Amino acid sequence: MKGWLIVNSFVKWDKFSEIYNLLLEAGKKVGVELDLKTSSDIFCSVQSGFDDFELPDFGIFWDKDILLASRLEKMGLRLFNSAQSIEACDDKGQTAIALVAGGIRTPKTFLSPKAYPTFGCTELSFLRKAEEELGYPMIIKENRGSFGQQVHLVKNSYEAEVLIASFKEHPFIMQEYIEESAGRDVRINVVGDKVVASMYRYNDNDFRSNITNGGSMKSFTATKEQEEMAIAACRALGLDFAGVDVLFGKEGPIICEVNSNPHFKTTLQCTGINMAEHIISYIKEYMDERK
Ligand SMILES: Nc1ncnc2c1ncn2[C@@H]1O[C@H](COP(=O)(O)OP(=O)(O)O)[C@@H](O)[C@H]1O
Ligand SMILES: [Mg+2]
Repeated sequence: MKGWLIVNSFVKWDKFSEIYNLLLEAGKKVGVELDLKTSSDIFCSVQSGFDDFELPDFGIFWDKDILLASRLEKMGLRLFNSAQSIEACDDKGQTAIALVAGGIRTPKTFLSPKAYPTFGCTELSFLRKAEEELGYPMIIKENRGSFGQQVHLVKNSYEAEVLIASFKEHPFIMQEYIEESAGRDVRINVVGDKVVASMYRYNDNDFRSNITNGGSMKSFTATKEQEEMAIAACRALGLDFAGVDVLFGKEGPIICEVNSNPHFKTTLQCTGINMAEHIISYIKEYMDERK
């Protein structure tokens, strides 16, 4: 069985290549031949339909290049994860829409109205409405962002207005702050319909628990409710696998966000569980069943 591991050409961080290597090694172990392809390696015109390449049996798409993923899918290539599910995770506004449609508990969320580069947000009546329902402190996040870097805890209208002005035309969400979960959450890694590893992430100095942002981690046995909610979130987003961030809410777990390309090296260090091996076995089983 042959597959491509499709990755971004320009991202050169070790933390990404470590993930690629874990996937390649996991493939080797069970006889799944994975070939690493950067987006430049398979660069071709839209018209060519990848004619110059022999397409493999499947692709693992470890990037957010939705257009490239969609083009490969149009050629009949099965991607893990699919273009649509990666797109829904990459945009926190889309994630909120899909999770709510799937009946999954999430913090109350407002989506910024569409803004254009020439204008930005020229009037703030929408913020006044969000303030009425959410109050302060409020969470404001750019729709696209990672490692907690584009997530802000805003204390008052002035801070919100300054932040929103800095976003210019970029979309963002305004969200209920789940205070009970300040600086802590659970990262639940799901493959197929199963939870393979969970970690408790915490940071005593920041409301964000991301490891890259200075958080710490502990191995953790998730509750049944947390696990079921994480699996349901993956289903609602059409994901084959993901890292799901689960907050502690007053009435039980609340889904914060879902990562289609989780940095599972930290999970491996913390729990000894190699998510790459689970992903490869899942794909192998899936492809074998459809032969
Ligand atoms: N609504 C919220 N209430 C409380 N904490 C939150 C909320 N949203 C995010 N956080 C904290 O911030 C962290 C980063 O937010 P997240 O939406 O996962 O963005 P990123 O994609 O940057 O990881 C979360 O892991 C959590 O600790
Ligand atoms: Mg996160």
